[in-house]
Amino acid sequence: MVCLGNICRSPLAHGILQREIDDKGLGWEVDSAGTSGWHVGEQPDARSIEVAMQNGINITCQKSRKFLKSDLEDFDLIIAMDAQNYQDICALSSSEVEKKKVKMLLNYSYPGENRAVPDPYYSGGFDYVYDLINDAVKKLIEVES
Ligand code: 4NP
Repeated sequence: MVCLGNICRSPLAHGILQREIDDKGLGWEVDSAGTSGWHVGEQPDARSIEVAMQNGINITCQKSRKFLKSDLEDFDLIIAMDAQNYQDICALSSSEVEKKKVKMLLNYSYPGENRAVPDPYYSGGFDYVYDLINDAVKKLIEVES
């Protein structure tokens, strides 16, 4: 799960997917990262922690890290929150196989529309962002499992 800062959107996506994996016993490995290194080592934003808590998910153990080129080898699926994340990840890919692993999260809810999970860092709307991610993650599991 990848966004810009790895403190607002992707930590929520990481926590939600982890909950679904645990509930369903899927045994998948999930991680999250940011295309920027601006918040490396930080906990998720307090507003993401809060909305996750309200939904029974504890994301306080997560720490921001920067997306690595090697993630394109190490993971089967790389999920971008918006088109800029998608482009920045694809720019690091070194083959068509790697590029094909990169998907935009909301295409699971709205196929082919390339909609973005809005960046809530400045504008807020964490409840809405949670709902968007939660719906899309459930659809992702249907499609990918
Ligand atoms: P995220 O949100 O990409 O969902 O983690 C942001 C976090 C920090 C910044 C921008 C977006 N920032 O400009 O520091």
